[in-house]
Amino acid sequence: MEFRQEVKFDPFSEKAEKFDAQAMKEDLKANGIYRFEFDSTSEVEDGLSRMGQLVNHPDSDGRLATQLEATGKRDYGRGQRGFSNCSLPPHTDQALRSPPLAYLALLCIQPAQVGGESLFVDSKLVYRRLSIEYPKFLEVLSNPEIIAHRFEDQFSSVPVFTALEDDRIIARVRFDELCYSSIAGIDAIQKLREIVEEYTVRISVKQNQGFVVSNSRWLHGRSDFVGERKYLRYLVAANNQNDPNLGFSISNDSNRDIAVKEQIAEIVR
Ligand SMILES: [Fe+2]
Repeated sequence: MEFRQEVKFDPFSEKAEKFDAQAMKEDLKANGIYRFEFDSTSEVEDGLSRMGQLVNHPDSDGRLATQLEATGKRDYGRGQRGFSNCSLPPHTDQALRSPPLAYLALLCIQPAQVGGESLFVDSKLVYRRLSIEYPKFLEVLSNPEIIAHRFEDQFSSVPVFTALEDDRIIARVRFDELCYSSIAGIDAIQKLREIVEEYTVRISVKQNQGFVVSNSRWLHGRSDFVGERKYLRYLVAANNQNDPNLGFSISNDSNRDIAVKEQIAEIVR
């Protein structure tokens, strides 16, 4: 099943334009994802700082950018898989953060010799698919009592999909050791995992190319790799829970959304 071929907007084409703050703003507003090439990381950092509050990640050593590379250690801590050469299933960053992270930027400083492709999934398509084919599972995944996320030694129950007051949806997805499900959620999580895999796009990101994604819409991940692979990651926080830069709308469908919806309907038939 391949929906992207029919979709006009394609952030995954080979071509990446030079970083432009205005183009980033427009693409993020329209589709929640922006691909670019950069000459210096500071121009990207500067552009991101105009989108919201750049935040330090606990792993960033007090800097705004986190350097993602394998440390070479055989054992890595809980939630530290990013610093190994293992694969990372598609996920939302800092799923418990309140207000949520609005954007995540990943800048390729050095691609891996083998593997290390970037993975992206539009959770809006996943949500639609669930709503059409598996509404019972969508109900479970929207129940705040069933899924819990772990941060340090704290557990918080948050649903995979949270509806905001204005018909927007915020997605929080993880399949790693930071996410727990009650027995009532196991089948729904399994189906979610299958659909996420089906919608995963794999990209070989070149040196000095990067992506900015809406963290509450697009999931990101990577395949495992051999050799050195270096990325810089920036996180941009939302101003509050109802920040217009969060999530995706399910009421105002663009032509692209309608096209996708029709394709799903056709498959369902
Ligand atoms: Fe991540």
